[in-house]
Amino acid sequence: MQSFGFNRFGTAAVFESIIQPTPELTPRRVLIKVAGFALNPYDAALRRGEHVQDRPLPFPIVPGTDVVGTIAAIGAQVTDYQVGDVVIGHSYLGAYAEKIALSHNKIAKVPADTPLDAVVGLTSVGITAYNLLLVKLQLRAEQTVLVQGASGGVGSMLVQLAKARGSHVIGVASATNAAYVRQLGVDQFISTAALPTTPQTADIVINAVNGGREQTAGLAHVAKNGRYVSLMPFSIATSVPTLVFQPEKQFRDRPALAYLLNLYAQHRLQLPVAAKFAFTVAGVQAAHTLLEQRHRPGKIIVMK
Ligand SMILES: NC(=O)c1ccc[n+]([C@@H]2O[C@H](COP(=O)([O-])OP(=O)(O)OC[C@H]3O[C@@H](n4cnc5c(N)ncnc54)[C@H](OP(=O)(O)O)[C@@H]3O)[C@@H](O)[C@H]2O)c1
Repeated sequence: MQSFGFNRFGTAAVFESIIQPTPELTPRRVLIKVAGFALNPYDAALRRGEHVQDRPLPFPIVPGTDVVGTIAAIGAQVTDYQVGDVVIGHSYLGAYAEKIALSHNKIAKVPADTPLDAVVGLTSVGITAYNLLLVKLQLRAEQTVLVQGASGGVGSMLVQLAKARGSHVIGVASATNAAYVRQLGVDQFISTAALPTTPQTADIVINAVNGGREQTAGLAHVAKNGRYVSLMPFSIATSVPTLVFQPEKQFRDRPALAYLLNLYAQHRLQLPVAAKFAFTVAGVQAAHTLLEQRHRPGKIIVMK
């Protein structure tokens, strides 16, 4: 089968077509015929070779965590899905391919008539937001949450999941993204430029800015007894309680995906498409080039 990967680290140009064997179907997995996948900043970091120490992988490396497709075969112990079901799935790697095998605990059935473009990118960002807000922090309605990077993939999910919980939500992003962040449902919008001079504080301040920029600005807005959460490594000395939150293998994907799709079906969750590219090497290269640029809000996706 065809996949898109690389045999050396570098720019988007390192992507090539790689022919691999169809993934093996184990008893608790399903084989998915991929309709498309979404990109995340991690994919570009992997391609640049930034994870060579913490996650050494043999070449060729085929990235990809967020996938949508149709189940083509099911393992002997899988009883909750059928061949023909359309699902979104969460992988550790390998979604840039024609087929992928995933555990039945890493997928969720997409309701009929759902546009696949609209849900393909929900998995990584949604699972991160779900596990942070609802599992780790056990967010309560009476809490105020300030999200830096509210226009981003993770930030958009954080805003909407916190609103669904009933919390008061302040969104911080570039002024050009004010309208987008406001229509996600924030109670207040603050531009990144205005944050340092805005006195507003929050019980939980979450930095979801790409690359973890603007850490110092966010720290100043943590209320007494509050907490600062960063999605990227954090090394600023502070008396404020901090948490570095990064995806973990023990994340509970299944309840997260069910929760996300349910909110989507209720029209309470959206994740727009920033740009859509063809399921070709050139499409993947162009998608990765855009991934590393400041792009308009939403996911970059590659669809058949
Ligand atoms: N995607 C995931 O599932 C995941 C999981 C765990 C951790 N993370 C980490 O969390 C961070 C956010 O991830 P994401 O997927 O939400 O990223 P994203 O959508 O690409 O970016 C989030 C926001 O960062 C802001 N930004 C500020 N400076 C930027 C720059 N130079 N280039 C691009 N964006 C910039 C942008 O907001 P404005 O334009 O409005 O300023 C953008 O909307 C990343 O560092 C990522 O590695 C991501």
